[in-house]
Amino acid sequence: MLTLHGILELRDYVKHWRLTSQKIALVPTMGNLHAGHLRLAERAREAADHVVVSIFVNPLQFGPNEDFKGYPRTLEQDKARLAEAGIGLLFAPSVDEMYGGNLEQVTRVDVPGLSGVLDGKFRPGHFAGMATIVAKLFNVVQPDVALFGEKDYQQLQIIRRMVADLAMPVDIIGVPTVREADGLAMSSRNQYLTAEQRSLAPALFQILKELAKSLRNGRRDYQRLELEALRKLSAIGMRPDYVAVRCANTLSLPEETTGEFVVLAAAWLGRARLIDNVEVKINS
Ligand code: PAF
Repeated sequence: MLTLHGILELRDYVKHWRLTSQKIALVPTMGNLHAGHLRLAERAREAADHVVVSIFVNPLQFGPNEDFKGYPRTLEQDKARLAEAGIGLLFAPSVDEMYGGNLEQVTRVDVPGLSGVLDGKFRPGHFAGMATIVAKLFNVVQPDVALFGEKDYQQLQIIRRMVADLAMPVDIIGVPTVREADGLAMSSRNQYLTAEQRSLAPALFQILKELAKSLRNGRRDYQRLELEALRKLSAIGMRPDYVAVRCANTLSLPEETTGEFVVLAAAWLGRARLIDNVEVKINS
């Protein structure tokens, strides 16, 4: 597998594919690859002639008190996994290559509205940083299609909105969350959990599934349902940031007649901030 670190060399390398109308897929990641990322790569291989995986721990999407410095960086291990998965090209730029010297002054892509709710309330600036790097990677690689995990549900909706609003010629594919055998959504941050916390962590998904079941059973007292789930999370020792019942895709507040929901949550367990979601479609 070839690893490129520079924007110009990457552009030069993929130019031939584009000129000969071969389809390019991009899988943006922050590395420390697990089975969830490999699933994205696998889907990308089905969707295009060539796959570019990027690994870049993006400083712009981390708040001042977040884990940018300690975020797991495992480039050699990641390269071996990608090669084994049949990926031909890895783009692994440095912070300097992507942003130059002045992070504060760098142009931002903002998707207001969708970025200001849920995770955006607890992580100010996170989604602008995320949208900025995704837009830049799209400009560098110019993929026909890009793949993102549905675990980061809000992120996925923001990217879809950015692409629509800015008429970016990229198809966005959301890929279902890959879970451990006990239901915990795979995440690089799961490794922050102690053994005891790890045994508690699947409760987040369980509690979201219980809430989803209540919706299927006809309950529409959304705030009450959220409160009950928050209490359950606190009772097992998590520190929830939020549990929210929202309309699927738009993330707006549901109404009595809403038929497609997403139930989302973020909760701290020790050093790890877990996020997860469950979609619920009610047949009318
Ligand atoms: O989901 C992630 O890993 C990141 O937010 C992404 C999309 C690679 C942008 O840095």
